[in-house]
Amino acid sequence: MEEVSLKEVPGIGDVTARKLMELGITDAKGLLLYSPIQLAEMLNTAVERAEKIILNAYNLLKERGLIEDDFVTADYLLEKISMRKYITTGSKNLDNLLRGGVATGAVTEFYGEFGSGKTQLCHSLAVNVQLSEDEGGLAKNAIYIDTEKTFSPSRIVDIANARGLDPRDTLHRIIVARAYNTTHLLLLSHSLPRKIKENNVGLVAIDSAIAPFRAEYIGRGKLSERQQLLNRFMHELLRIAEIYDVAVVITNQVQEQPDIMFGDPTKPVGGHVVAHAVTYRIYLRKSKKNLRIAMIVDSPEHPPGEAVFAITRAGIVDPEGI
Ligand code: GTP
Ligand code: MG
Repeated sequence: MEEVSLKEVPGIGDVTARKLMELGITDAKGLLLYSPIQLAEMLNTAVERAEKIILNAYNLLKERGLIEDDFVTADYLLEKISMRKYITTGSKNLDNLLRGGVATGAVTEFYGEFGSGKTQLCHSLAVNVQLSEDEGGLAKNAIYIDTEKTFSPSRIVDIANARGLDPRDTLHRIIVARAYNTTHLLLLSHSLPRKIKENNVGLVAIDSAIAPFRAEYIGRGKLSERQQLLNRFMHELLRIAEIYDVAVVITNQVQEQPDIMFGDPTKPVGGHVVAHAVTYRIYLRKSKKNLRIAMIVDSPEHPPGEAVFAITRAGIVDPEGI
């Protein structure tokens, strides 16, 4: 990937460049992930200056043909969608529902109640992204952000073995970060661009992405603050997916105790804020035994439909005998 260094951007001197590097912004493209207000806060500078820096970076990248024109024709958009690459989930049924698997350049949200398979799916994807393209992977590595302490290396070993991969090597190709709270999660998300570039990453899985926001911002008075932070976070993820062409997968629980804003117990947490920022939403629900049903929710590209898959020791697979 061709890069434009920070110092080439008019308005960025040595000191600012160093500060940006410390914040995890290592090149001009990284600046496009932030709004002027965010960048001003991070650099402790005026919003007008931050705005200029972002605009200068944008113009420079455009001049060099490293970002797209904002106005594009619709056939180009279709071509772009058709250029997406896909990571197999391990289940053909589920892959078909998703038109090939979990897409790069997009944020895919899996939501559902406890035990519906969200965490197992993230584990399977972290292994499958490493497979060759012929086998349904991207031959790339994974970043796994765990907010619930449910990442399990031994599950990775099981799934890798079942796929004929070397377990040690597979584990080594998954970079895991444990996020302790929303502040930490936001810090981690800022360092994603650098980590993605340094480690040839094709998948970023965040399990669970919304739970920390929910746990920390309780009560009516905190709702707007929570939604604002969540909005920033979600848009940052979407831009990371688009700019770095990685598949971003987030998981989300359903509302167990309906609160004031989100009354329906089968709806995911986070309301419209999350809904607007994700590219694809998939609802998972439990069926008999180890079977699970996935359903596409509100996608402009997918016809409505469902798929049955199974959770086994080998990860996500197709159900047998159905
Ligand atoms: P929460 O995080 O609690 O919201 O649930 P989740 O949606 O993340 O569920 P998870 O992915 O943890 O799915 C749990 C299901 O996977 C349970 O039914 C487990 O029994 C099943 N499971 C986990 N590990 C294995 C395994 O090694 N073998 C089999 N057969 N099933 C497993
Ligand atoms: Mg889980």
